[in-house]
Parts: sequence; structure tokens; C-alpha cells
Amino acid sequence: MADNAQLIGRDDVDDVEAILSIVNTEVDELVHVVEDNADAIFTWDYEKGARPALDRLYEKAKTSQWNGSTDLPWDTEVDLEKVVAQNFLQNSADGFGIADFDLVGTPFEKWNDKQWMELGIESNNWTLSQFMHGEQGALICTAKIVETVPWIDAKYYAATQVMDEARHVEVFARYLDEKLTGHYPVNTHLRLLLDDIVNDSRWDMTYLGMQIMVEGLALAAFGFIHTMTTEPLLKQLLRYVMSDEARHVAFGVLSLQEYYVNLTDAEMFERQQFAYEASVRMRDRFLQQEVWERMGVDVKTAVELVINTPARKLFQMMLFSKIVPNCKKLGLLDRNDQWLRRRFEELGVIQFEDWVDTGEEYESFAIEELARSGAATL
Ligand SMILES: [Fe+2]
Ligand SMILES: [Fe+2]
Repeated sequence: MADNAQLIGRDDVDDVEAILSIVNTEVDELVHVVEDNADAIFTWDYEKGARPALDRLYEKAKTSQWNGSTDLPWDTEVDLEKVVAQNFLQNSADGFGIADFDLVGTPFEKWNDKQWMELGIESNNWTLSQFMHGEQGALICTAKIVETVPWIDAKYYAATQVMDEARHVEVFARYLDEKLTGHYPVNTHLRLLLDDIVNDSRWDMTYLGMQIMVEGLALAAFGFIHTMTTEPLLKQLLRYVMSDEARHVAFGVLSLQEYYVNLTDAEMFERQQFAYEASVRMRDRFLQQEVWERMGVDVKTAVELVINTPARKLFQMMLFSKIVPNCKKLGLLDRNDQWLRRRFEELGVIQFEDWVDTGEEYESFAIEELARSGAATL
């Protein structure tokens, strides 16, 4: 049975030095090439609705399109310092909870208000940059699913998701360009994960990596930031994106449910390991090592402080609130002597297992729901 060293390159999941030893060496490259190793599959079975749940999702997607250019209030003035003051610095001097610790002897000992403000602005730039890069990952993965999935209802639905993801890349890129002050290259852990997903030749692994893991995490993270932020343009942008993401995660759950039923224990074990690897990479990426580099502080010291703050622990846990119930629904938690359950216990996220899964939840995220309940919920 594979151990941590084989799966994630280190024995201790919290080994900060090992996490930080992986860095992005391609920061100046304009393109990044990944072998996708997959066969394109034609199907001659055109019977629409053979998979009713996927067909319903496809019909829903057709009437839920929105226009990133005209449906969002792009004329909103974004005062970054005000946004950071309201959203990052409100609860602690830095928004991370680092400033609540004894900082004597740390790189932060002599930091003034301006530096904490700068950290908030950089952190905001970093977070939205990684969302943008992740959205491009989703665009590429979903285009791959159109080619590789053997069912016509799934090809139809995936085609709508390709359009959704193009729109998401577009709106995050525009927000970064017009409203923020600079963006970051893709985080190395996120890039490794996207490479692994695209690289895998098995069509269901694209779904597991993207629709279940990356998009499950995105849906939780967008929801959290949507609730917290006081910036009206970002709030609305995230709400619109979430209405699509909920469908995307449902697409993963509905497709894999059918496929996983027939897999052997050995095949399921490969999926469990893949889900665990993806979980660790996503956790690592949120340590935002590039922000500390840009701020000129010792990255290891900063990260070791951050991972011990209660705010960070809570945020990190919350990121798994969609992933864990969806993995449970797919039978991934308990096959092979509860292998993935044990890993999620170690990561401290198993408590979400009975939260609502996303197979049906997408209806409540729909934009019409938004219109019905009024702008107050935006
Ligand atoms: Fe997306
Ligand atoms: Fe998506």
C-alpha cells in the first residue's frame, strides 16, 4: 500500500520545509504544455435523455447562461485600501490572525500599519489570481471531457460547462486587470495538481480531479468569500460564478456515481489515492508562499506562523465542506478499509461527511433563485 512519501512526496503532511521546497520555476513562461494522453471518443448512440439527471442538468445550463460583459456592474469603483480594511483587517491587524501572536523575534516584529495593509492587498491579488488560473484549468479539463466521456448526455452538458468556464476566466481576468493592482503566476502546488489531472488518460479521473476536488473546493471558497466580502462587484461576480459551479460539481457527482458502482476495490483505491493527493496539493496551495516572497519576509517563518492561527485552520477546514460529503456519496470514503476516511481524519476534515452533497444542491444556487429572493441576498 502506497505511503505518504510515494503519494505526496513527504512522510509528514505538515512538513513545511518539504512543502516550500517545491517552487514555480516557470514564472516568465507565456505558455505551459501538458501531455493529455487521452483518446477522443465518438459515440453513435445519440439518444438524448438516456441519463435523465444529466439531461436535466444540460437543460438547466442552457437557460442559465449569463454575460460577463453586461451582467456585472463593472463601473463599480473599488477602493482597495477600504476593501482590505473592511475585509482583512477588521478582525485582526493582518486578517490572518498572525498579529494576534507574540511577534517578538519574528519578521513581523516591527511591521507598521502600511505593511499590514500591503499584505492584505497582495493577499487579495494572490487569491483572485489563483482562482483565475484554476478557472483556466477547468476550461481545459472540461474541453477534454467533451472529447473523452463516452455518453452523449455528458458530452452535451460538458459543452455548456466549457462556455461557463470561458466566462469565469474572462471575469476573473477582467477583475484583476481593472480593479486590482497586479496578479500572480500560478501557484506551484495548484499547477502540479492541474498537470496531474490533465495528464491522466482515464476520463473519470478528469471528473474526479476537476469537478469533485478542484471545483468542490472552489464552490466552498467562493461561498466563504462571497459571504465575507463587502465589495459589491466581487460579491456579485462570485454569486454568478457559484450558480454555475454548483452545476459543475453536480455534473461530477452524477456522472461518477454511475461509473464507480462497477469499479473493483483496486480501481477504487486508485481513485481514493488520487482524491487524497489532490486534497493535500490544494491545502498546500493556500499557504500562499508567493505572497511572503513578494513581501520580502522569510517564507518558512511566515508559513509556520500562519498555519497555526485559528482563522487559517477554520478556513482550511471549510474548504473541504463540499468535497467530503461528495466523496462519501461516491463511495470513496469507506472502500478499502475506510482508507480515504482515515486520511480525511488526519487532515481534520471528516466532520463534513454528512453535510449536504452537491448532486442536487445546484437548484438552490441558481440565478433565478437570486432574482426571486431579491438583491439582498447578493
Ligand atoms: Fe469555473
Ligand atoms: Fe466550474
